[in-house]
Amino acid sequence: MIDEQSTGNKTIVVAGATGHLGNLITHYLLARHTHVKALVRKDTSIARTEALRRAGATVIALDYQNVITLTEACKNADCVVSALSGLRDVIVNMQSNLLKAAVGAGVPRFIPSDYCVDFTKLPDGSNRNLDLRREFSMILNSAPIQSTSILNGMFMDLLKDEAPVVLSGPAKVIYWGDVEQPMDFTTLKNTAQFTAEAALDGDTPRFLRIAGQVASINDIRIAASEAKGKEFKTFRIGGLGMLQFMIKAMRTIMPARNEVFPPWQGMQYLHNMLSGLPKLNPLDNDRYPDIKWTKIREVLA
Ligand SMILES: NC(=O)c1ccc[n+]([C@@H]2O[C@H](COP(=O)([O-])OP(=O)(O)OC[C@H]3O[C@@H](n4cnc5c(N)ncnc54)[C@H](OP(=O)(O)O)[C@@H]3O)[C@@H](O)[C@H]2O)c1
Repeated sequence: MIDEQSTGNKTIVVAGATGHLGNLITHYLLARHTHVKALVRKDTSIARTEALRRAGATVIALDYQNVITLTEACKNADCVVSALSGLRDVIVNMQSNLLKAAVGAGVPRFIPSDYCVDFTKLPDGSNRNLDLRREFSMILNSAPIQSTSILNGMFMDLLKDEAPVVLSGPAKVIYWGDVEQPMDFTTLKNTAQFTAEAALDGDTPRFLRIAGQVASINDIRIAASEAKGKEFKTFRIGGLGMLQFMIKAMRTIMPARNEVFPPWQGMQYLHNMLSGLPKLNPLDNDRYPDIKWTKIREVLA
């Protein structure tokens, strides 16, 4: 845990502060008496920026294409945290502008918008969104700035509905591949709290890896049974080859290329996790001991 006294005079820039994760990161930074400069787009509605302002952040509306104003906004910051979400125009292009601005303003540290499985271990083409993160990491690695990616596996909150793995009606946990494959899950809140701590920590390595719970499909079944008070069973749809086939079919039927999270991308993410390739190891959960890690059973309850 970083000394409370030492965080009071720190300034952290948060890009994407109006988003789900960025908002929570800002909240945790403000709770640690940090000066937060929240970068928002010029056309972001007042309703969304007002909440940040009332919470105590300094809201700076700007054009992410304009590196000069971005650099001005980054001045005197101790770290730039990105929680932007998007495709190439955001993850590669806008984050490159933000990185140029951070370097230009002499900011010592940069946290990119990664928040995912270990994308460094995945082959190109296995996950469109993670390919973009690998591409940006090459740019980041050659920049004269200290950088830290936060890797958290899958947002545990998604198990409630968006990742259709836990089916409450039929009391089934569906899967492909190996029922005992360990995977990493972390709530949005835990990820935000850890990221806020990492932003205030002057000495972080290139990667920090966290998991609120490491769980297999069988562990998820046990958690769902405890949370819902009824016996869940697992249902194996097929092997990982079948999931790959389903992803291809989905991509053909519903390409939705401009969507950040079309259904086939979620399936790619699940395929990655079930393959075991991007498993996080070792975990840095103990780095900030005040963080209490939420478990899958609590999220599903
Ligand atoms: N591991 C997982 O399971 C998982 C799941 C979901 C997300 N994530 C990752 O978590 C990170 C944050 O995601 P989130 O869910 O918090 O995203 P979100 O709620 O959609 O918020 C995205 C933020 O980026 C900003 N933004 C989007 N497009 C922009 C653009 N073209 N120019 C400037 N700003 C732009 C938005 O600004 P406005 O408010 O102005 O629109 C918003 O502040 C991303 O890296 C995402 O991939 C991980």
